[in-house]
Amino acid sequence: MQKTLVWDLPTRLFHWLIVASLLAQYATVEWLENKVQWHFYIGYFTLFLIVFRLLWGVVGTQHAKFSNFVTGPKTVLYYMKTLFNRQSEPAIGHNPLGGWFVIVMLVLLAIQAISGLFMTDDIFLDGPYRQLANKETLDVMNTLHHLAFDALLYVIALHIGAVIFYSVYKKQKLVPAMVHGNKMSKTVGISDSRLLRALIVAVVAAAVVYVAIEVYPPTPQVDEYYY
Ligand code: HEM
Ligand code: HEM
Repeated sequence: MQKTLVWDLPTRLFHWLIVASLLAQYATVEWLENKVQWHFYIGYFTLFLIVFRLLWGVVGTQHAKFSNFVTGPKTVLYYMKTLFNRQSEPAIGHNPLGGWFVIVMLVLLAIQAISGLFMTDDIFLDGPYRQLANKETLDVMNTLHHLAFDALLYVIALHIGAVIFYSVYKKQKLVPAMVHGNKMSKTVGISDSRLLRALIVAVVAAAVVYVAIEVYPPTPQVDEYYY
């Protein structure tokens, strides 16, 4: 066994920033008064994080890549048979079941952030895509924005439950590795976090979000009544 780097810094930052963003997203609509504008800004930031993670899943380091943890049903079923075996070999990156869980979380997060673009606070603020859609689409997006969050809450509860299960039952402490990046493993991990590449990916992700929310949508039409 040796100490080796498994989670690159960008993946770790992505994780804890997503946690912070979701808390802030909840707070800005449920706990704080008149903070919907901040809900929008943090929503755009969440969108940036998701686009970044999708790109990083293609060009990132070994264990961050989708090809590393998205496996076929046979591998998942085989892994599930060993789930309650305390002696089973720990995965160096995401395990086959956890890998699919990551995909589910990313898809739900994407639905949440994209549907938000069509939302309104019914007073002053319209999401940038509100004027592009017809009534039916707006209803669907409104339903999705509520449902996806409820689904996210269940999935996050399961996620944290799984982390506790691994820690208590299987004696595999996964959280420290999501903080400092290192694990004790027989397999050699990654050599570094590829920060320059991550910076380029972050610039591309920011550009994609900027175009999607600032350039592409039409300028909102203000009712003459308000002049
Ligand atoms: C808002 C709540 C949360 C969300 C949306 C979330 C989402 C995610 C996602 C998307 C990943 C995959 C990381 C990647 O490959 O990019 C992940 C992994 C992970 N998360 Fe969370 N997470 C949340 C809360 C937490 C909390 C509170 C903890 C600690 C108790 C935690 C511990 C971990 C660990 C240890 C992993 C790595 C699992 C492994 O080793 O395969 N997460 N999480
Ligand atoms: C992943 C990112 C997001 C999360 C987690 C999130 C979460 C939420 C939650 C929990 C609610 C309250 C729903 C309810 O009352 O049942 C809400 C409402 C809302 N969201 Fe989001 N949201 C996100 C992104 C966005 C974005 C990007 C926008 C707009 C650009 C947006 C606009 C709104 C609006 C206008 C409301 C209604 C606020 C009101 O009732 O005054 N959201 N969101």
